Amino acid sequence: MQDPRTVFAALDLKPGDVFLDAGCGLGEYALEAARRVGPTGMVHAFDVTPGCIADLSSQAAALGLAQLRACVADITRPLPLPDASVTVGLLGTVLHIPPVTRSMEAVFTEMRRVLRPGGRLGVIECSQHAPCGPPRSMRLPAARIVDALAACGFLPLAVNDFGNTYLALFQPSLP
Ligand SMILES: C[S@@+](CC[C@H](N)C(=O)[O-])C[C@H]1O[C@@H](n2cnc3c(N)ncnc32)[C@H](O)[C@@H]1O
Repeated sequence: MQDPRTVFAALDLKPGDVFLDAGCGLGEYALEAARRVGPTGMVHAFDVTPGCIADLSSQAAALGLAQLRACVADITRPLPLPDASVTVGLLGTVLHIPPVTRSMEAVFTEMRRVLRPGGRLGVIECSQHAPCGPPRSMRLPAARIVDALAACGFLPLAVNDFGNTYLALFQPSLP
């Protein structure tokens, strides 16, 4: 996992933002995001694994982070969020999972729908040359993600190389 401080500096996550962590896992990014957006903001943390969501909900409650809402959701399906309701989205090492890779277009179309104009999307994936991580055949080069997101209405802003992982940043293009 990448240091959340580096990720949120690149995503420019601020107090009052509405953050979506799609495929949140145990929720390290979501918890740090909840601290950063503060009580005036909101964090939606979605994962298909009920155990991750139960643990994250308990942790958020114990930490008094009422702005974090963790929910069992399959990100390859329509997201349980209104249009243009999110300011910053994150897909953290989830796109390479084969059923998600196969549904990338649906995932990006939903991300485009829920992001506000001027919002940002970050995609973290494992680099091709990293010594550990998913099998190399499953790893996604940044260029493939840039092309797939461009086809779904996103403009690339930057690709930050963190060595074993990279963070690609996007914003919705104008309608
Ligand atoms: C490698 S973990 C990454 C967790 C977290 N984003 C991070 O970077 O630490 C991938 C997560 O994606 C979740 N996941 C896989 N397929 C999913 C889907 N279709 N919808 C939502 N979550 C999914 C898994 O349950 C797992 O928690």
